[in-house]
Amino acid sequence: MALESHKTNPALNMERAFSDNIQNALSLMYLAKMGQKGNHKKERYGLPAFNVTTVSSINAAFTAFEMLGSSGLLAFSNSALKHFGQGDPIYGLEFVSEYIARLAKKTKIKVATHLDHGDYISDKGRRVVQAAVQMLSSVMADNSTDHLAKASTAIEDNIGLTREVVNMAHPLGVSVEGELGVLAGEEDEDTKSEFSTYTNPDELEKFLKETGVLMLAPTIGTMHGPNKGKPGHKVKLNIELAHKLLAIANKIDERICFVIHGASTLYPEIVSYATDILKKNDLNKSLNNNSLEKWQNFVGTDWEQVKELLKTGFVKINTDTENRQTFLASLLGAISKDAAKIDIRYYDTACAEALTQSYLKKLIMAGNYGVWYEPKIDITKFCFDLSKNLKTAIGTN
Ligand code: G3H
Ligand code: 13P
Ligand code: ZN
Repeated sequence: MALESHKTNPALNMERAFSDNIQNALSLMYLAKMGQKGNHKKERYGLPAFNVTTVSSINAAFTAFEMLGSSGLLAFSNSALKHFGQGDPIYGLEFVSEYIARLAKKTKIKVATHLDHGDYISDKGRRVVQAAVQMLSSVMADNSTDHLAKASTAIEDNIGLTREVVNMAHPLGVSVEGELGVLAGEEDEDTKSEFSTYTNPDELEKFLKETGVLMLAPTIGTMHGPNKGKPGHKVKLNIELAHKLLAIANKIDERICFVIHGASTLYPEIVSYATDILKKNDLNKSLNNNSLEKWQNFVGTDWEQVKELLKTGFVKINTDTENRQTFLASLLGAISKDAAKIDIRYYDTACAEALTQSYLKKLIMAGNYGVWYEPKIDITKFCFDLSKNLKTAIGTN
């Protein structure tokens, strides 16, 4: 079967066989949008895209997917790929694609591998996108902002560049995510937008039809990073605009799936875990670097609004910051329990188990469990608590 996109663009090749249990992101997203789990049609669910940056975080995500029988989506930013590739993102791509193919062979869940915020504007960005099309199952063609010029790109340029990526990727069965509008906050260590613009609904139809993308990141008021708004205030997303945009896309092709960037929520249990440690023994005072204040000022995206968007047909929720926060909180916890343990594996395991908890939490919140088989754990017994090891947190100890 080939999903037909706009007639002037190549259809997404759904016959392409990736390595065992790897699929393109769109196929997993579309199941979620339809509420398909096994052979049953249930409620819609969301597909968290976890930005992974280390081998331990990839392993932790697989552990969570397998415990829950979830669809898995692993996203790689340019800087994550550089980190994996010791400075060379292409080597990073080779490493992660081979590593994930090995893990996926042993599993019964399905996974997509996605290049996050790949730009097709700069030479450096183009090289990474071209390599990612060969090695991953999905790519983002983020051409809505020219980060060097610190300006939004003209719609015609965004369309032209995104279309080039679709022409290259769709015949290979690699799904493509386009972006329309400018998202605020840091997207990548090299790219930061101090301004933002909402997606213009008048441009959407043209963008979708002329690029042929089946995944779209509209900008509706979310932003990247740990400071998404004023402490104590909820960030208000433009839900009315979100619905309007989705209606336009559904009319063109109901298989088009929407993505929310900057979807990290802030877990209060993680904030109190970290701030309690910082307050204990006056650690914060001796560090003398405002860490406590920074933790207290973190603001995430409001989950209730994200949940409403998932119900109406948004699907992919990009989450990085909340997992970084969980990692950091668990590292503080591991060090405060024993700061003289001369074994890297002690700290690495503590952080990986905490990441698995963080991933489990979001997959359950999004309803992404029991997709490929019934969960192996009793999800009602799962308690997100970094003071516990993983077995205890999932209620099997
Ligand atoms: O939006 C993307 C991520 O948060 C990527 O962040 O470039 O620091 O890996 P990073
Ligand atoms: P957060 O910063 O909210 O985790 O968003 C991550 C993201 O959008 C990655 O593309
Ligand atoms: Zn993003």
